[in-house]
Order: sequence, then structure tokens, then C-alpha cells
Amino acid sequence: MPRRRPHSLQDEGTDMLSAEKNRTLTEVGPGTPMGELLRRYWHPVAPAMELRERRVKTVKLLGEDLVLFRKPDGDHGLISRYCPHRSADLGIGWVDGDLMRCAYHGWAFDSDGRCAHQPFEEAGPAGGFRDKVRVASYPTATLGGLIWAYLGPDPAPLLPDFEPFSWGHGFVEIIMTELPCNWFQCHENGMDPVHFEWLHSNGNAARSAPDDPKYVARHLAIDFLEFEHGWINGREIDTVNAPEGVYARTSNVADGGILCMWPYTLVSGSTIEFRVPMDDQRTLNITWQYSVLPDDVDLGDRESDTIPFWYGPFTDPETGETVMSHTLNQDFAAWTSQGPVTDRSVEHLGRSDAGITLLRRKYFEAIEQVAKGEDPPGTVRDPEANVKIQLPIHSKSFYTEGMPRAVFEEKFAARKASGLFGIGGFLSVQAGRPEHLQRQYEEIAGIADTSMAEETQ
Ligand code: FES
Ligand SMILES: [Fe+2]
Repeated sequence: MPRRRPHSLQDEGTDMLSAEKNRTLTEVGPGTPMGELLRRYWHPVAPAMELRERRVKTVKLLGEDLVLFRKPDGDHGLISRYCPHRSADLGIGWVDGDLMRCAYHGWAFDSDGRCAHQPFEEAGPAGGFRDKVRVASYPTATLGGLIWAYLGPDPAPLLPDFEPFSWGHGFVEIIMTELPCNWFQCHENGMDPVHFEWLHSNGNAARSAPDDPKYVARHLAIDFLEFEHGWINGREIDTVNAPEGVYARTSNVADGGILCMWPYTLVSGSTIEFRVPMDDQRTLNITWQYSVLPDDVDLGDRESDTIPFWYGPFTDPETGETVMSHTLNQDFAAWTSQGPVTDRSVEHLGRSDAGITLLRRKYFEAIEQVAKGEDPPGTVRDPEANVKIQLPIHSKSFYTEGMPRAVFEEKFAARKASGLFGIGGFLSVQAGRPEHLQRQYEEIAGIADTSMAEETQ
């Protein structure tokens, strides 16, 4: 049963962290307390379609240098990046049968990390010494268009099969963006409802009308309800004093909401956002974007390696400035502006930070659980329970059933007329959606031939 958090919030100005506790919260390498906790979860590392196209990709995950490769049968291998011969980068090598071949002298490794071939050595009298050579290897799995990896001890938990991966009424694409900051400051954003008002709504108002910004209704209270995989975010909005014509909605946790989930995931319904720790100062943000389609379109089950992906820009390639046009880009700007690893010893936490202190406390507790040999929260081991795991997302039927066609077309036209299409077009949370995906989305939605489907900037 979910446990209710009391509505009362902690006193202002408390709960800042010592430098030592900040390190505990942020360091992810092997042997660190947080690194040990994170090694109890599966991590998305790359789009399956990307590996179908390029076969070999280097990966930085939890401070480890790895190389991911796709075998002819469609399975993947994930092994140490640097060759044990003389440390060449396997990322410049190639896949040869089931093996990852080093480009320098041709040593080759299987997906269990065994050295299977030492061409020159094997031609000599001793026949080589490949049995003495091994690299680290990790299990992988594919789900929802993503390749996942597990870097922890055996037995691995199950890769959670969350229900959005099976929804059929949306156009799914995967957006990859590397961010120059620690993962935990990204994750804290998932317990920070007040930032919507300022970073997104009022920031947009200030950017579009700097001399007379129309601010949105204020947050009066925030609330968090714990469930098996994390927390439901709730908010009370001052709808009485809301400016006219400005959208304002109170969201009660009992009705579901935006979800902050273990180990670093935000689920809104139209997105699942993973803040994957590459190392202590870099985060790979993976956005699994689900753009709702008209209800008469059902895409059913999709093969993982057919789900499209793209790399979303963090800075504008022309100006070098941080992109601020789209919701998630605004988040990226805020997180990275806090510094590579934000200094939590100088903060002044207040009522708006109740979710932040709760999150930190829960991670310290989870570290203790792992140290005692227990599973941390949100791990799944029951195969029968691991089928389309239901999540308490707000207005879920909107995503599971699609939008009535007439409503969809009306909203699409209104969005276009508003000029808010922006870079990336309709419903993209990040800037830079490639034109061919915008077209594909419109074709699948069945509106590509109408006047609404003209190319936009
Ligand atoms: S460095 Fe890899 S085979 Fe020589
Ligand atoms: Fe945000």
C-alpha cells in the first residue's frame, strides 16, 4: 500500500548536506556507496536502432568505459572498452561473427568477455595465451527500443516491463543528450513541482514578453505520495487568483500524477526521462517520447530496433548558447547551471524543497539497505508481476487510448497557428526533432496530406 507523506513541510533553511554526504550522493564509480546502489538496477545505454545501424558503440556508464556491440543474431555484447593487449580502443574495432575484434592486432572477444582469438600469437609455437586473457562483460537486454545493461552482482533483478513500453496509441522516439553535470541534480528535478511555474511557464512568459510577462497561477502547496517504484507528484494551484485565460490545474496525488521513479527516472505519460549517470560529472539524458496519436491509430507492439532515435542538442550550434526553446532543454539549462556537481553545503532549502530532502533521505536509506545485502526499492524479481507494470500516471487513458481524432486535429491546428511549433514541431519536448520524424509522425497520425502538415520551422 502506498504510504502518505504528511502535508507539513520542514522548516526553512535546514537539511543542507555536508561535502562528504554530497560525495556519497553523487559518486557512482565501482565501490562507492551510490555506485553500489545503482549497480542493483538495469540501465538504458543506447537505442536498439542505433546499434542496428552502426553495430559498435562506446558507452560510459557508472564511471566504467565499455563497448557495446550487436551480433548477427540481434543480441548484444557489452565488454570493457580498452583491449587487454595494449589498450587500444575497441570502439574503433568491428564485429566479426559473434566476436568484437580489436582493430590494432586483431584480438577478438566474445560477449562473455573471453578472448577467443589472438591471430599472431596463435600462429606461434605456444599457440597463444588467450585462456589467460579476459575482459569485464555485462548482461544486456532490449525493451522499449532501448538496450539495457546490468553492472551489478548476480542474480540480476528483472528488467522492469513498465506499461508505456506496450502502449500503441503514440509515436515513440528516443532522444539522446549528454549533459555536463552530475545525475543526481537532474533526478532531484523529478521531486520539484514548483519549478514548472518558474523555469517553464513564467520563463516562457518572460522570454516572449519581457516588458510585460503574464505570470501563471502560483503553487500553494506540494505533495508526494510514495508507491512501489517511487513517488507521485502533487500540487495545489491558486486557481482562484489565476490570470484569465492561463491554464491552471491542481493535481491531487490520489488521482495519479507525474512520477519520480527509482533509480533516476521521471514518467509523465508523454515521456519517460532517464538521467543515466555516465560518471560523476556527466549524465546521459534519454528521453523516451510518446507523442499521442488519434484514437483510430493503433501501432500495437513494435520491434525495439525499429523505434527511431535522434541526438537532441544541448547548446545551439550557431550561437553556442544553451537552448531554452523547449521544456526539457529548459530543464537541462537549469541542471547544468548548478555546476558539474552542485555544492549542497551552501544551499538554503525551503518549503518548495520538501521533495528534494525526501529524495535524498530515501537514497541514503537505500544505500544502507544495499550495504546490508537487501534489494533496494523498485527492483523487480517476480516474473509474473513483471508484465506491463501499471503506473499511477495522471490522465492515463489519454495515452493508452489516444485522442479523439477531431480533438487531435483541432489541437494540432491550434498549436500550429500559435506559432509554438518551434524547432522540433508538435509535442516534441526537446528541440531538434528531425524533419523526417516530424513527417513520419504526421503520416502515421493521418494528417500529412492536409494543409496542417506543411513544413514548419
Ligand atoms: S591492442 Fe588490441 S589487439 Fe593489440
Ligand atoms: Fe521541468
